[in-house]
Amino acid sequence: MEPIIEGKVKTVYQGVEEDQVLIHYHDRVTAGNGKKEDYPVGKGEINCDISCIIFEKLADEGIESHYIQRAGPGLMRCRKVEIIPIEVVVRNIAAGSIVRNTTIPEGKRFAPEPLIECFLKDDEKDDPLLNDARIMAMGYNGQKFMMMSIARKVNVVLKEIFSSIDLDLVDFKLEFGAYDNRRIILADEISPDSCRLWKKGTTESMDKDLFRKDEGDIIEAYKEILEKLNTQNTESK
Ligand code: TMP
Repeated sequence: MEPIIEGKVKTVYQGVEEDQVLIHYHDRVTAGNGKKEDYPVGKGEINCDISCIIFEKLADEGIESHYIQRAGPGLMRCRKVEIIPIEVVVRNIAAGSIVRNTTIPEGKRFAPEPLIECFLKDDEKDDPLLNDARIMAMGYNGQKFMMMSIARKVNVVLKEIFSSIDLDLVDFKLEFGAYDNRRIILADEISPDSCRLWKKGTTESMDKDLFRKDEGDIIEAYKEILEKLNTQNTESK
């Protein structure tokens, strides 16, 4: 199969149906825009499974995404969408770039509402922070409004999902896609690669920061998250 898009950790293939794609999650992890990388065995399948479970839970709450079904180990069947080149980051607790680039201390809680930021999705430009004027000039003002509204709803559901498996949802990144009459839905993945997760009440990472900061084994952490989500799914059936 000819890939449509080859990303850093995933490849997108055309599906049998014209309006579908198959996304293959690789055993690869990168940080610092690809400057640091590793090939942890099993990571693709684990992240794909976590992402499937989360998209299914969001669908149960009425939040639409490109996800259709798990299509095999590390494979996800999705609706084909046109990716909007804006990454939306939702922050409940200050960590990462907002701490590096502002005077906000790590651990500050953004409440009652999360702090939401938009970044350009462009690795060559190092994903710069966008502002409203730039988003408007780029022609994405309407989409921004929709994305922020969906992002707030996603945050409510994700906080609950992770809290129920003893994790604090610090922040996460969402991507969106458009289809048909410019309908906007969630796209890409939602996994410990795209979320910051701390063991409840601590600052102990259970996400890609383990790799970014050389603090531990991501496979062990990601596996634990998947097992807990699976157990919870079985118990709720
Ligand atoms: P940041 O602190 O580096 O801005 O990241 C905020 C959150 O967004 C964190 O959970 C990691 C996630 N993220 C991605 O998944 N991909 C990206 O390219 C970036 C910049 C952040």
